[in-house]
Parts: sequence; structure tokens; C-alpha cells
Amino acid sequence: MPATRSEPPGFPATIPSPGSLQQLHEVMVRCTRCSLFMNRTQVVPGSGPSRPDILFVGEAPGASEDREGIPFVGRSGELLEAMLEVAGISREEVFIANVIRCRPPKNRNPRAAELRACRGWMEEQVRLLNPRIVVSLGRYALQHFVAKARVTEVQGRLRKVAYSGGEIRLLPLVHPSAVLRDPSFRPKYEEQFRRLGRLLRSGSGD
Ligand code: URA
Repeated sequence: MPATRSEPPGFPATIPSPGSLQQLHEVMVRCTRCSLFMNRTQVVPGSGPSRPDILFVGEAPGASEDREGIPFVGRSGELLEAMLEVAGISREEVFIANVIRCRPPKNRNPRAAELRACRGWMEEQVRLLNPRIVVSLGRYALQHFVAKARVTEVQGRLRKVAYSGGEIRLLPLVHPSAVLRDPSFRPKYEEQFRRLGRLLRSGSGD
């Protein structure tokens, strides 16, 4: 999707609640609700089927994602794909998105105002996708769903959480970049993904 900078800052004032993901993304790619629009190549709305069993939620696009318009295509994406393979799940059957849709300069951490401005896009995606399980990757994704929760304390435990007027089943995991930084964590990560695959196949993700 090409970059569009034609909207004035603050567009859209209210995040829409359309009937389809495509309609939602058509507005999202024009978003100027926070200042990240000034430096992006393009918005990265997320990718995957419209009725996925799993929604993976990461942090924000990096350089590769900003260039390609697709989440998790860099090194973290390679690890995520390797873990999906371990779980017996293909990338094509899951939806992947981020809590922040535009690359922060130099990949700095998202700011509170940016997270707030972007929040409604995820609420609408969750409503439209209605996944059986939401998997948060890392701190910012987890805290989007459970304010102040700590990944190290809750990782690997499937739980029901109230979200946007409904309820979701959330599996918090660490971010793939944390495993790239500390490969000693990889066996545990693989086991968590294997369990996710078993959960889906047994139907207990319902
Ligand atoms: N790429 C993404 O799309 N999200 C992340 O959180 C990290 C890399």
C-alpha cells in the first residue's frame, strides 16, 4: 500500500466501526492520529485471513515492515515463523498485527500518546476478526490488553480477559526479539508454541 500523507493531522477523529476488515484498513492506511505518520513509508495494518483462529499482536513495525507494509518480516518475523512451524501452524492461517501501526523513528519504544491514538484500530480488528485466541508478543502488546501486567509473570498462561466490551482468550508470550537477544530462552519458547498448537488442535482454545 503506498504512503499517503494527504490527510491533515488527527485523521480520523474517531476510529470507524465498519462491517469489514478491508473497509477498516482503507481508513487505517490514511491515519494521521499521531505524529508517527510524518516519518513512515506506509502504515502496516496487519495481514492474514479474515476468520483466523489466532491473532498475534506485536509492538510496532521496524525498518523491513515499514518498507514492505507487512508485519514481522524482519529477524523477529523469521523467528516467529520458525516457532509457528514448531507449533504446526502456518503463517497463512494466522492474523498478525501490531499495537502501533507506523514505525517509530530509530525503532524507539512507542509513547503513551501513540499507543492511545492507535488503540481503537486493534479494538476494531479484534471485533471483526473474532479470533479464538489472541497471542500478545512482548510488553506493549500484553499491556494493551491488561494494563500494567508483566510478561515475565504471566507468560505462557492462557487467560480470559475483558476487552472492549467483550471477552478474549489471551496467551501472553515474550517478544521474539527477546529470544533473539537471549537464545537460552528458545527451548521454553518452543514449548510454549507447541502447547499453542496442541490447544488449537484439541479445540480447547474455544
Ligand atoms: N516487527 C513487527 O511487525 N512487530 C514487532 O513487534 C517487531 C517486528
